[in-house]
Amino acid sequence: MSQLKQISHNDNSAPSTPGKFKMEKSPYFNRTRWHYSLAKLTLWSFAFLVVILIFFLRSPTSSVPIDPSRRSLRTYNWGGSAWEKRVRSSARVRSRNGMTVLVTGAAGFVGTHVSSALKRRGDGVLGVDNFNDYYEISLKRARQALLERTGVYIVEGDINDEALLRKLFEVVPFTHVMHLAAQAGVRYAMQNPGSYVHSNIAGFVNLLEVCKSVNPQPAIVWASSSSVYGLNTKVPFSERDRTDQPASLYAATKKAGEEIAHTYNHIYGLSLTGLRFFTVYGPWGRPDMAYFFFTKDILKGKPIPVFEAANHGTVARDFTYIDDIVRGCLGALDTAEKSTGSGGKKKGPAQLRVFNLGNTSPVPVTELVSILERLLKVKAKRNIMKLPRNGDVQFTHANISYAKRELGYKPTTDLQTGLKKFVRWYLNYYSGGKKAVE
Ligand SMILES: NC(=O)c1ccc[n+]([C@@H]2O[C@H](COP(=O)([O-])OP(=O)(O)OC[C@H]3O[C@@H](n4cnc5c(N)ncnc54)[C@H](O)[C@@H]3O)[C@@H](O)[C@H]2O)c1
Repeated sequence: MSQLKQISHNDNSAPSTPGKFKMEKSPYFNRTRWHYSLAKLTLWSFAFLVVILIFFLRSPTSSVPIDPSRRSLRTYNWGGSAWEKRVRSSARVRSRNGMTVLVTGAAGFVGTHVSSALKRRGDGVLGVDNFNDYYEISLKRARQALLERTGVYIVEGDINDEALLRKLFEVVPFTHVMHLAAQAGVRYAMQNPGSYVHSNIAGFVNLLEVCKSVNPQPAIVWASSSSVYGLNTKVPFSERDRTDQPASLYAATKKAGEEIAHTYNHIYGLSLTGLRFFTVYGPWGRPDMAYFFFTKDILKGKPIPVFEAANHGTVARDFTYIDDIVRGCLGALDTAEKSTGSGGKKKGPAQLRVFNLGNTSPVPVTELVSILERLLKVKAKRNIMKLPRNGDVQFTHANISYAKRELGYKPTTDLQTGLKKFVRWYLNYYSGGKKAVE
């Protein structure tokens, strides 16, 4: 009893250090206690490990709607001497007076075409893309393979990864950046608004932060969008028209990009050219766009939603063929003046431009469907619907006189000709060329 008492007493007053406790008490009891503590510790450590493991195993397939590009930021690997060698080799200039261009979003639709056109004429090109799953990743991988064959390497990474961007500029002093990485699409903004902020705002700012601080600063050409015209009704849309009524979060982030570009030009002397693309289409295009999924659904015999505005108003788009857009991008790069800052400080006024890159001939969406029907030789099941007020505007129409004057931009492909090329590519890509066009 007295022993029990003493034990209990000593238990209460026991110092936390097991060593001291062991020296004063019965060896049998102390051993039991020691084993008990050890088992408890092991159990807790095990539980802790299980929690950590569950966290890591769950995170990639989490049901929380996190931006997929955020996931990419965590998982991509880069660096090492072999990697640097690949980066250098891809960015090597092969023509006299060629430029070294970092193309962001290089595995994307426009990025692939621009990268291969630059490479073809002898410029040094390095791509960066996070291969997010906004649309089929296999298509991005196929574009990557295509570029790989022309000698363009795409680094897998996110434009929000500051260390990666700094490393790229350390390895290659890029003279130009063609910034095309973005979260595109108008309706997806209601599902995943964070992805627009992540790529179009945070990512753009991160890129500009790096560009402003490197020496020499590169000149930057980047993709804005015709969507900045939003609810503007004055046609054709001119660069001087108001752009303060965006109809979607996508448009708002592109408009924000234009304001951010102004700031970095003003404070740091970065040369910045924004390009407002008007509904770009063509081979290797984007599956979320109407011309693309109409083709897919017409071939499957599925009904397609054809929108009309109030009072049976026509919905029309200034569809612009990819090769024309590529020429506009190259024209913008070729006429971009050098940035004027260095070491993060502005040394003088720098170039700041915004251009419309469209086709100047809007085509009703009903006409787009008719062309596809003729090319595919399949009658579409048209499901006429009212244009929802969730981001799409009734029509777009570009005034391109400024781009014509400054960039020598002159679109040459009409919708019929361009869609024929798209459909040929589509059939070849998805059904191994089994179905012929016309
Ligand atoms: N295609 C059009 O009709 C059109 C019209 C107006 C504007 N634009 C703009 O042109 C640019 C190119 O468009 P696209 O049609 O080629 O789109 P796309 O989605 O095919 O290409 C964008 C690429 O950027 C990558 N990307 C996205 N976020 C990234 C990030 N945080 N870090 C690294 N890579 C990232 C994507 O994986 C994708 O491959 C975009 O800025 C888009 O907003 C396109």
